[in-house]
Amino acid sequence: MQWGAGQLSFEDLAGPRTLEELRREIEGCARCSLAEGRTHIVFGEGNPHARLMLVGEGPGAEEDRLGRPFVGAAGQLLDKILAAAGITREEVYIANIVKCRPPGNRVPLRAEAEACLPWLRLQIRLINPRFIVVLGSTALQYLCDPQARITFFRGRWLEKGGIRIMPTYHPAALLRDPSKKRDVWEDFKKVRDAYRELVKR
Ligand code: URA
Repeated sequence: MQWGAGQLSFEDLAGPRTLEELRREIEGCARCSLAEGRTHIVFGEGNPHARLMLVGEGPGAEEDRLGRPFVGAAGQLLDKILAAAGITREEVYIANIVKCRPPGNRVPLRAEAEACLPWLRLQIRLINPRFIVVLGSTALQYLCDPQARITFFRGRWLEKGGIRIMPTYHPAALLRDPSKKRDVWEDFKKVRDAYRELVKR
């Protein structure tokens, strides 16, 4: 699979050369109606040279309030999973399919996700990670395949544009159904092992 040059806009080609340039470009973004309800754009955060990136769905209330990804209850669980895998939040990069909070934490509409995706694609290009963990079906469907089901693809390595992609359940799904924790841990062990092999720790 390719990132799809056809999906990149003309602006992308002239595009920002650093994440900070991209962040400035996104300031005040009004490409979709989520802009109207947001407190902060949640750009994403972490190591700009991360070998491992994690992509969720979209900001919740706490993320919108603070302008940071995965800082609410799901984020705290994600921190624990990363820590159990011996990976720090600082060494990875965390972003979402949409950068503004959908009202009531609903799933982003297709138009919202498609309006926002060029930003995420640019972010991925600038960071150039070797691995991406896609958290939940929204991230899986927009980054990999619109028809993909997370229940089928979780735990299976995919590959796109030279990046290895591991789909797993979203941490919010684990809060609703703790029986999924075992599967997520299996998935993260695969990520940990491949990542360790890469960074040789
Ligand atoms: N859920 C997400 O998908 N992303 C966040 O940043 C927080 C919760």
